[in-house]
Amino acid sequence: KAEVGEPLLNSLERNGYFVENACRSGECSLCRVKVIEGEVFNAPESKLRKSDQTFGWVHSCVAFPTSDIEILY
Ligand code: FES
Repeated sequence: KAEVGEPLLNSLERNGYFVENACRSGECSLCRVKVIEGEVFNAPESKLRKSDQTFGWVHSCVAFPTSDIEILY
């Protein structure tokens, strides 16, 4: 369960999932998760590599689900 306006990382932690992280601002890539299904808004401060964008990886600390999603982490 996620709340509107809440970064995906916060939702995961609130629901008992641990995702490695450090900066919580989109720069270190430690919190990457792969979106298998659904839509996510990536905030402009997210420093996604081109390959991450191509294969669906997002930085969960600055990613905001806009639909129900399924992820791999
Ligand atoms: S915690 Fe560093 S990019 Fe998300």
